[in-house]
Amino acid sequence: MTASATKIGNSLARNELPPHLDENLLTPRFYTTEFDKAAKTNLDIARKDFEAMFKEMEADYNLKHFDRKASLERLNELSPEDKAVYESYLVRSVVSEFSGFLLFKEISNRFKRSDRPELGQFFQFLARDEARHAGFLGRALKEEGINIDLPNLPKKRAATFFPLSWVLYSLYLSEKIGYWRYILINRHLNANPDKICAPLFDFFEPWCQDENRHGDCINLMMRCWPGMTKGFRGKMLSRFFLWTVFLTHTLTVCERGDFYKLLGIDPVLFDEEVIAQTNNTSRNAFPWVYNFDDGQFLKLRLEILKTFKEWREGTGMSKPIKFTKFVLLMLKQFALPMEKTKAVRYG
Ligand SMILES: [Fe+2]
Ligand SMILES: [Fe+2]
Repeated sequence: MTASATKIGNSLARNELPPHLDENLLTPRFYTTEFDKAAKTNLDIARKDFEAMFKEMEADYNLKHFDRKASLERLNELSPEDKAVYESYLVRSVVSEFSGFLLFKEISNRFKRSDRPELGQFFQFLARDEARHAGFLGRALKEEGINIDLPNLPKKRAATFFPLSWVLYSLYLSEKIGYWRYILINRHLNANPDKICAPLFDFFEPWCQDENRHGDCINLMMRCWPGMTKGFRGKMLSRFFLWTVFLTHTLTVCERGDFYKLLGIDPVLFDEEVIAQTNNTSRNAFPWVYNFDDGQFLKLRLEILKTFKEWREGTGMSKPIKFTKFVLLMLKQFALPMEKTKAVRYG
């Protein structure tokens, strides 16, 4: 049992999680990369754009948004099941925001140590935002009586190494998919205010703009490394990361759909909208994106989901046949046609 979370003021012993929050939820992945290579980033390639983006981050538009005094107390009484769903969402979110903070902080420190103060400060801005997001979610959890000791989380798992190009492609996507997730939830709740069960959701609009800006910052870093988005390598990196991130999103959202249902959102439609919008947004950064026009990608996604469920539940054909079908469908989706984008590139 973890030493990182405690249920405050009830019968649970110290250092114990409520039963519905298992250990895995609190085990974020942390990444390490080619920091020495990153320190050689040639900013001169995109100097003007960098300065504009730096100013935008420096302006700190959300300085006052995450009001420390705002009440985050839940508005509606929820059934024990719904309460568990809400708390589990908060825990997953706080862990992902905090792992973003740690990565940006580490990149910032490495840049500063390598005598790249501008880049160090740039990533410090990103770390600042993620720390705020994590702190805000931590406060919402406290209102639920759950205290998560964030600084102790990184001690739980060794960092995974990713080459710089992988880190930038996956960071870009995680920021932009985060943007689309927050904004779509926000739009839905604006249209259905009776589904707002906590004031936390009122903060999503400016919050998602932070994630949008972070994605733009990472896009700028990618432009400073033109080799990453060129030729066969650029196409394979685009294909691999778009496909992996979308598949993970589909399986996670649709398998853990309870949170979306709590807000009155259809998880399958939500997932579809998020990945279609993220694929479209990625035209601004990636040299290739999937072509969704013929509907094949989304159609295969439903077949993958159905086969995954049948395989996991042991229904239909035998498990090995189901698993083989699942793998073949994934490969078919991975290999679908892509289209070249007009993303701005230098060099
Ligand atoms: Fe964030
Ligand atoms: Fe972010």
